[in-house]
Amino acid sequence: MLRIEIVPSILSADMTRLGEQVKEAESAGADRIQVDVMDGRFVPNITFGPLVVQAVRRSIRLPIEAHLMIVEPERYVAEFASAGADVIIVHQEVTLHLHRTVQQIHQLGKKAGVAINPSTPAATLEEIIGDIESVLVMTVNPGFGGQAFITETLPKITRVREMMTQRGLDCDIEVDGGIGGTTAPLAVKAGANLLVAGASVFDSKASVAEAIQHLRESIRE
Ligand code: DX5
Repeated sequence: MLRIEIVPSILSADMTRLGEQVKEAESAGADRIQVDVMDGRFVPNITFGPLVVQAVRRSIRLPIEAHLMIVEPERYVAEFASAGADVIIVHQEVTLHLHRTVQQIHQLGKKAGVAINPSTPAATLEEIIGDIESVLVMTVNPGFGGQAFITETLPKITRVREMMTQRGLDCDIEVDGGIGGTTAPLAVKAGANLLVAGASVFDSKASVAEAIQHLRESIRE
């Protein structure tokens, strides 16, 4: 049985005190931290590079995911690996030689994740799903935090879980975008076990600890 994990993403964190924010999330029981890397080309926003992964690495002991929402991610996999990412997630849509890039991530000693956008079919993972540690099903169109969860992605989460079960795979399925107290249980019920949460953790009226507690309680019910 896969453990349900809470993965705060730093996009909505207070950048003037990023170290404190990720420490708060760690103390509140977060399981991993995700750094949302954006290049202004694959998505209409520019965010962070390896330097910020290094800064987060110096601040916490939790595993760090580098979610590369960039074109030609193979060009930067080694830099994010040496910056301290434990998991490197590339997008199926922009990784021309996906099998080779996954091999590259593994040769660097890191876990490989493949992300698919809302309009990308689960079937595009057929030939790679057996070689990766996680699938990230985007539940918003990537680029910004605080967007509304796209409920039409729920059946796709289930399809990916079925693809894994048919192959006897116990891989993680991660969801990212619009995850909060209402949508987290829906995603878990559909088959997800890693919950990326940005605005619901770092941009809510509650404290980081209260927000993470609320998320945990929502999936316990
Ligand atoms: C891609 C970003 C967001 C973020 C989570 O758009 O990477 O998905 O991680 O966003 P929210 O605020 O919706 O949890």
